[in-house]
Amino acid sequence: MLKVYRGEILHFLADPAKVALEQSYQHFADGLLVIEDGKVKQLGEASSLLASLAADVEVTHYQNGLIMPGFIDTHIHYPQTEMIASYGEQLLEWLENYTFPAERRFEDEAYAKDVAEFFLDQLLDAGTTTALVFGTVHKASVDAFFTVAQQKKLRMICGKVLMDRNCPDFLTDTAETGFTDSKALIEKWHNTDRLQYAVTPRFAPTSTREQLDKAGELLSLYPDVYMHTHLCENKKEIEWVQALFPENNGYLDVYDQSNLLGRRSVFAHGVHLHDEECQRLSDTGSAIAFCPTSNLFLGSGLFNLKQAEEYDVNVGMGTDVGAGTSFSILRSLNEAYKIQQLRGEKLTPFKSFYLSTLGGAVALDLEDQIGNLAPGKEADFIVLDYNATPLMERRIKQCKTLHEKLFVLSMLGDERNVCATHILGEKVGERVTGKA
Ligand code: GUN
Ligand code: ZN
Repeated sequence: MLKVYRGEILHFLADPAKVALEQSYQHFADGLLVIEDGKVKQLGEASSLLASLAADVEVTHYQNGLIMPGFIDTHIHYPQTEMIASYGEQLLEWLENYTFPAERRFEDEAYAKDVAEFFLDQLLDAGTTTALVFGTVHKASVDAFFTVAQQKKLRMICGKVLMDRNCPDFLTDTAETGFTDSKALIEKWHNTDRLQYAVTPRFAPTSTREQLDKAGELLSLYPDVYMHTHLCENKKEIEWVQALFPENNGYLDVYDQSNLLGRRSVFAHGVHLHDEECQRLSDTGSAIAFCPTSNLFLGSGLFNLKQAEEYDVNVGMGTDVGAGTSFSILRSLNEAYKIQQLRGEKLTPFKSFYLSTLGGAVALDLEDQIGNLAPGKEADFIVLDYNATPLMERRIKQCKTLHEKLFVLSMLGDERNVCATHILGEKVGERVTGKA
């Protein structure tokens, strides 16, 4: 069965910072997207493709919207959904005062399922179709998450948090139980339908060397699972890591010593990185999740995107909810632009939308499956309504170029602009107020 969608279509083919701008994306003012069995079959100009379709094929026409691949969130915590917007602290106090108590409740699988259901609906509502997700230390939290993600047919990556020190007793595992629980979850879920597993040490301060080594052992046992953690987010955190691991040559080296770097390793934040650390991330194919709303909310710092580009480090966008203040990648792009302004750098809208789609897929080593609408890719896509609010309607009317329209979407946009989300070609959510 074919599914056919017509409208303005945009997707990326390469990083606009690496190739000539015109080669980095394809834009069809009146395009056609043909989907078969959940995958893209054809993409091109409506005028030429329509002629090749059988006369009775139904075409869904989005007249006023922009069709693009679903957003990819490369770092988010589902158990922090209900503690988003907790007042007053920077990272370490915020963890103690708000995060750890909130995560305690995920030992209860029924509660975890309820939150997972709500969380995934929030992601879809914001136009995010794939995410790399933290669970809690509890195995049940990951079973709950994957159960719900599987029902929704989503491409999702998640893992049980590993932490065997410097956290409350009720959240502490051991190097051994962390290993065996993770192994059982990998055997049960990794590569089941569209689900994949991430070995997830919380961050260096909450794991012993023994536990980090065990995480590395899991990666060597299962070479295609992910590694997901935090890195160089906050100055006090970095000092603490230096005190806990005096024998290592910096924060990244703590992970490196346990063989945790690689093509499927994703480090959240990397706000305060040395050049040597960028080089090492680049050499190993590791990725950074840039989480603008979180970095500003926790007062962590201003991510140096230019440095990451100079060293050719893979970067994706992350919301980092609950330190991040929105599920919306569009809202994250707004803050990302301002962060680059404060650094004296320009973040172009083309780069922004690249990072949110194909860039995220490359960061997750999933560019063969998702990230754009090239034939053969899984057909997870969204429709953005340019006219979602009266202000946007007026502002968009003034835009003469795609560059301008994308920039307005990234500055004024949020969930209200996502008028439809499709998973494997099937519509899963629609905003009734949408005009597209
Ligand atoms: N570092 C260790 N744990 C966390 C967390 O839950 N959120 C953020 N933003 N940073 C962390
Ligand atoms: Zn985080």
